[in-house]
Amino acid sequence: MEQKMTQDEMKIEVAKAALKYVIPETIIGVGTGSTANFFIDELATIKERIEGAVASSVATANRLEDHGITVFDLNDVEEISVYIDGADESDKQLNLIKGGGGALTREKIVAAVSSQFVCIADESKLVSVLGDFPLPVEVIPMSTNYAKRQIVKMTGGSAILREGFTTDNGNLILDIHDLKIEDPKRLENQLNNIVGVVTNGLFAGRGADILLLGTANGVQTITPLIEN
Ligand code: A5P
Repeated sequence: MEQKMTQDEMKIEVAKAALKYVIPETIIGVGTGSTANFFIDELATIKERIEGAVASSVATANRLEDHGITVFDLNDVEEISVYIDGADESDKQLNLIKGGGGALTREKIVAAVSSQFVCIADESKLVSVLGDFPLPVEVIPMSTNYAKRQIVKMTGGSAILREGFTTDNGNLILDIHDLKIEDPKRLENQLNNIVGVVTNGLFAGRGADILLLGTANGVQTITPLIEN
């Protein structure tokens, strides 16, 4: 009997497929999370072909260094050829929700600097409308309750403090539940306008350019659906 592929096996397949997008002799951006971790392990097999990497979290920097991959500080780098990272949800336009691991701000910064963003994910992450996955918002600690009230007023969702969690930047995370995000770009901008919000986990202004989706039938390459 044929065995069903596990979620981890799909993640490993997309991690392998992403190697094709690594541009030799350049510095690449590397994301955070379990899928990104599989990618780092694959990257180690071709590490002599790249100059090094910029990491989107302390955990990723540690894993890259453990594999002997040079990690650059973003302030010492002018160009990143490609950013490779996972996502918590993607729609067909490749707008993403990220930040389940709490690394959203650094991820957004590295994605902004990168010429191309290749998202790697298993098939469970592709949705028709974003919002089932709680949307993370990084806030400066003293603004937590103010931001929470503003978010509830603005979105109608519930904003729940991620207990016992501090970001790499020393901030807190509010997770917004019960959303149906019809206009991701608009919500991304609105949330970022709340005083005390560092950024939110919507990657719509700068979504992915390519989604490598791990499915039971192999890896699908998806580019943003252009709607008329
Ligand atoms: C980290 O903050 C996140 O943005 C991750 O990239 C995202 O949560 C995907 O993680 P997994 O690959 O573990 O599902």
